Amino acid sequence: MPEAMDSNALYNITYGLYVVGCYSDDKPAGCIVNTCFQVTSENPTLAICLNKKNYTLDCIKKNPKFCISIISEDTDPMIISSFGFRSSRDADKYADFGYVDLDGAPAVKGNFCGRLVLDATDFIDCGTHVIVISKLKDTQDGSGAPMTYEYYHKVIKGSAPKNAPTYRSEQESTTVTKKDVRRFKCDICGYEVESETNLPDDFVCPICGFDRSHFKEI
Ligand SMILES: Cc1cc2nc3c(=O)[nH]c(=O)nc-3n(C[C@H](O)[C@H](O)[C@H](O)COP(=O)(O)O)c2cc1C
Repeated sequence: MPEAMDSNALYNITYGLYVVGCYSDDKPAGCIVNTCFQVTSENPTLAICLNKKNYTLDCIKKNPKFCISIISEDTDPMIISSFGFRSSRDADKYADFGYVDLDGAPAVKGNFCGRLVLDATDFIDCGTHVIVISKLKDTQDGSGAPMTYEYYHKVIKGSAPKNAPTYRSEQESTTVTKKDVRRFKCDICGYEVESETNLPDDFVCPICGFDRSHFKEI
C-alpha cells in the first residue's frame, strides 16, 4: 500500500466467512476464506481468492472439486482457528471435528448456514493471490445467521493472518485504536484483547485455548 494512500475505506468492504474443503489425494484439506462471491446467477459461477502460499490452492489445482461451508454466528470458533491459522501441509485440521463427503468434496462437520459444492474451472493470477472461478454443482441448506467479517472482528475479536487478502499490518491496525489501552495479541490465532493492565496469569485465549504466554503486547 503506497504510504500516502489512506487504507481505511478498504475496511468498509463487507465480507462473510467460509470454510473451503478440498482433497489432498484422499486426505481432507482446506482453509478459511473471507473472499467468496457469486459471479453469475444463470448456471451459477462463484469465485474465491486464495493466497499462492496456501496448500488449499495446490490441492484445488490438482483436484478441482471443493466445498464451501458458509460460517454462521453459531459455528464453533475453533473451526476458524484450526482452518485459518494452520496449514494442511502439516496439520489434520479435521481431526477434532470430522467431515462428511459431499459429492466428492469434504465438508467439515458443524453448524453452518449452508454448503456449496463447486468445480474449479479457471485460475486468474493476481500476483500474491489467485482468483478461483468455479461452477456450482450442488447445494445443501443449513441454518443460522451468516457470520460477517465485521462480526468476526468485533464480537469474536479475531484477526486475519498474513495470507488473507484483507490482512492489515500491525502498524495499519494500531493507527485506528485508542492510545491509552494496552493491546495483546495471541501469536497462535491472532486474537487480540485490550486491557489497562497485564493479562492475568491464568488468562486463556478464548479462540484457540493457548495460555497467556502466547500473548504479546502490540
Ligand atoms: C478470518 C480469516 C480470513 C481469511 N481469508 C483468506 C482468504 O480470503 N484467502 C486466503 O487465501 N486465505 C485466507 N485466510 C488465511 C488462510 O485460511 C490460512 O492462511 C490457512 O492457514 C491456509 O491453510 P492451507 O495452507 O492449509 O491452505 C483467512 C484466514 C482467516 C482467519
